[in-house]
Amino acid sequence: MSSAPHDTGTANPAHVAIIMDGNGRWAKMRGLPRQEGHRRGLEALRRTVRNASDLGLSVLTLYSFSTENWRRPHAEVSFLMGLLKHFVEKDLSELADANVRVRIIGNREDLPADLRRLVEHAEARTADKTGLILVIAFNYGARDEILRAARKLAAGVAAGRLAPDAIDEAALSASLDTWDLPDPELVIRTSGETRISNFLLWQSAYAEFVFTPVLWPDFDRAAFEDALAQYRGRERRFGGLGAAALRSVDVA
Ligand code: FPP
Repeated sequence: MSSAPHDTGTANPAHVAIIMDGNGRWAKMRGLPRQEGHRRGLEALRRTVRNASDLGLSVLTLYSFSTENWRRPHAEVSFLMGLLKHFVEKDLSELADANVRVRIIGNREDLPADLRRLVEHAEARTADKTGLILVIAFNYGARDEILRAARKLAAGVAAGRLAPDAIDEAALSASLDTWDLPDPELVIRTSGETRISNFLLWQSAYAEFVFTPVLWPDFDRAAFEDALAQYRGRERRFGGLGAAALRSVDVA
């Protein structure tokens, strides 16, 4: 799904996706262990969910653990798994009370069974909520997601349920983990890094990007509003011409 062409970007985006980066550097600058950076990162995550609800966004996607993060030391990987568990166990009731619907995207196969059950429970418990959709990308990699979608489509073809020609953009989108979600209009990355790091590669084809130097644990309401203001100042053309250029086109 995508927004209308020639959107002048005056409204807030409905779907904001964030690459939460800089926890380690935040901790290092203070002489603290990396884990403390992640702990403070979880506080920033909670704050950002509240702000997204207050600001009336429809969808907030947060990149919490990538398929590449398994390369980190075992202790850090376990800590991040534990942090997700802690977040879901501790915050689920509060999220449900705030009318937040929780969704997890990513490859669930490789997650520990207890974590998999917990995320399924979080989704089921909040399935009827109608406020903000909080999408946690966990063990998520866009290439992995696209591969899994391609395999699903190929299985459909092999079983005779799907003609190869029927594989179009809509069919691929519908086979992704985000099959029922709108594409992000704004992707924010914190910590000054300017990479996409295998995040929502298909879905962010027409997204605006904001790179902020703020480290994730310091990401606050002001930093969020600044990114939204940058988005509102952009002109989204979706491959077409801008409004000013269109006005000057001789259509006669
Ligand atoms: C990037 O910082 C951050 C992560 C890989 C993990 C993100 C996790 C949180 C924000 C905490 C909440 C977590 C869950 C699971 C709900 P980095 O460690 O790469 O920082 P650095 O680049 O400064 O080292």
